[in-house]
Amino acid sequence: MTIRAVVRGVGHYLPERIVENAEFMDWVDTSDEWIRSRSGIERRHFAADGQGTSDLATRAALAALDDAGLRADDVDAIILATSTADFTFPSAATMVQANLGMTRGFAFDVQAVCAGFVFALANANALILSGQANRVMVIGSETFSRIMDWTDRSTCVLFGDGAGALILEAQTGTGENADRGILSTDLHSDGQYKDALYVDGGVSTGKTGFLRMQGKEVFRHAVEKLAQTAHASLAKVGLNGADIDWMVPHQANLRIIKSTATKMGLPLEKVILTVQDHGNTSAASIPLALSVGKQRGQIKQGDLIVTEAIGGGLAWGSAILRW
Ligand code: UT7
Repeated sequence: MTIRAVVRGVGHYLPERIVENAEFMDWVDTSDEWIRSRSGIERRHFAADGQGTSDLATRAALAALDDAGLRADDVDAIILATSTADFTFPSAATMVQANLGMTRGFAFDVQAVCAGFVFALANANALILSGQANRVMVIGSETFSRIMDWTDRSTCVLFGDGAGALILEAQTGTGENADRGILSTDLHSDGQYKDALYVDGGVSTGKTGFLRMQGKEVFRHAVEKLAQTAHASLAKVGLNGADIDWMVPHQANLRIIKSTATKMGLPLEKVILTVQDHGNTSAASIPLALSVGKQRGQIKQGDLIVTEAIGGGLAWGSAILRW
């Protein structure tokens, strides 16, 4: 008998305001054609004034609790992946805990930028497998619109705001790959690439700062490292690309997603795509895609999923889970 961290519920929230590509032409020299052809992005959501990462996360958390048929106090822990927490501290996770009226358990943030949700998922899995928690809510929530330099056309057109949440629950399995739940995870980082993607602000500067990215450099790492980590996660449990029902990638760039799918031997029909509607929502992109994929009727119980992401750090990783 093996303990598995099994998905009990999923939910998401997208802010009301939708910004189409063409709107950016009002303030930078760009075009819908450039954004669409280089990134696959057509539109994204931006949070309203005063709407913080913890607000988005709370809405996603409530949707996931509803989907799971649980109350907040049925959850033992909240792990929130974000790089755009409302404040330096306390964590956005504890703000969500309070918003939900959750008076027990514990909550903390994980900061691994666009790979944050995969890192949070691996941590949640470890808490469950080690017996420290029976139910863990894993949230990805971001307001990247707050760290955009609106004069930098090479970045401001790429990112969006949103949140997604997954509730994992300890269930007994057989230890075989047919079990529902997380089957394997694979995490990496390499701080020597810190200049490829970073925010030029923080406590050492006295300002929040703006996102800076060497797009081509990050692209080069992404097309190489995402397939590598996905293959590594599969190999840990003796599986390969042919076993996968759905690839749920970090939604940064359609060209990166297509390249990774090809390397995994997966047709695009087996990939959950939301990049066109959400843009790059960093740590929120994977739980958003899982929730939307379920809502569309694509992801069904028993499906084998590979999920992968790379972002600032650089940090990257993947996970295999049976829905
Ligand atoms: O989530 C974290 C991980 N992040 C990523 O995975 C992002 C990885 N990188 C990328 O997705 C791509 O590199 C980008 C979408 C950011 C850029 O695509 P690219 O094909 O690498 O374009 P580029 O940066 O090489 O720029 C090509 C040209 C440049 O002009 P010149 O130098 O060739 O004259 C840019 O100045 O496109 C220009 N350009 C734009 N033109 C119109 C850059 N941004 C824009 C824009 N509109 N918004």
